[in-house]
Amino acid sequence: MQLRVVTIFPNFFDSCLGEGLLGKAAGKGLVQIDAVDLRAYTDDKHRTVDDEPFGGGAGMVMKVDVWDRAIADARAALPGARVILLSPQGETLSEDVARRLAREKALVFCCGRYEGVDERVSAHLVDQELSIGDYVLTGGEAAALVAIDAIARKLPGVVGRSESVDTDTFTAGLKHPQYTRPATYKGWETPAVLLGGDHRKIAQWRAEQAAKRTGERRPDLLGRVLAERTRLTLVDPPKALAALAQQAAAAYGLRELAVCVTDGDKRAQWREKAQAPQRVYGPLANARRRWKDNHFVHLAAQSGPGQVAPGEIARQLVDETGDITLTWGISPPAGALIAAPVLERQPYEIIGLFAWLERVFGRG
Ligand SMILES: C[S@@+](CC[C@H](N)C(=O)[O-])C[C@H]1O[C@@H](n2cnc3c(N)ncnc32)[C@H](O)[C@@H]1O
Repeated sequence: MQLRVVTIFPNFFDSCLGEGLLGKAAGKGLVQIDAVDLRAYTDDKHRTVDDEPFGGGAGMVMKVDVWDRAIADARAALPGARVILLSPQGETLSEDVARRLAREKALVFCCGRYEGVDERVSAHLVDQELSIGDYVLTGGEAAALVAIDAIARKLPGVVGRSESVDTDTFTAGLKHPQYTRPATYKGWETPAVLLGGDHRKIAQWRAEQAAKRTGERRPDLLGRVLAERTRLTLVDPPKALAALAQQAAAAYGLRELAVCVTDGDKRAQWREKAQAPQRVYGPLANARRRWKDNHFVHLAAQSGPGQVAPGEIARQLVDETGDITLTWGISPPAGALIAAPVLERQPYEIIGLFAWLERVFGRG
């Protein structure tokens, strides 16, 4: 990936971009990062990049003409690049945003200084504004560095084992606690399960700890943790409905959309066309045997006695381990937890499903 940072302080990036994983990634040619001096695009002998704000007021504003030339040069050098203005008013950087930006061919980061940048730069010259959080920095350089680090981590090959990126905090809730030698230090013990060598127990302990921590520290992320463990099941659905449910399953990061097809010939046709996260199974009764250790949750179409509210479902399930199988539009399987609907609808009315998924798994 090619990256260009346009700044009045190009030396700011010298040491940090050459160190650690970013330095190695540059060495391997996985990322190529240039810091370009904005003053190279000035046309006066003082190399002026700012001027007083129209209408008066404190501080200086960066000039649109200088940025115009700098951005035109960046677009010519990196055709197809996404041009980003760092700004506290932009879209907030998150793991999802970093993953999305990591799919771009090239990125250009424009670093503001002083009181900010002439509004016409964001209105006419860049593709988006990006913020690294709700606080104001003195300049965009530190923000560009944060964004580059988060984005580069998502590029294949930058982090040695892709597993360490896949289990990072925010991929699905917070990461489990980690320990290394010595096993005991000043009387502070490492949990015995991690020293026992039973990989199944270790995986279970890690999943429990990650869910517990997420519940305690970041309850807003619980939906992601649950979605990763959830299979939505449809039984002999019409094709159009399965297509919508497929979109919902992908959007909410569900582990699987299980389509149970009773007729053997039809099942073969479904299998040919199925795309992740969709998987095709035989009759529900057979599939249920494979999922016998799952927690079964059935989403009711109409509210009734004994049903569990969406928030309570999330709280109950996060304390359990194991997969969750969600049924909908059929009669409730025996022993299933019955989830109260968010909208009262007819069975198999997709809007009722969407509303419920949003309440339980939505990311706000
Ligand atoms: C002092 S700030 C300007 C803040 C501006 N006066 C305001 O109140 O919105 C100067 C530059 O730092 C960068 N910056 C400041 N906070 C940032 C943040 N949270 N995320 C990204 N860039 C930021 C932007 O490039 C901005 O143009």
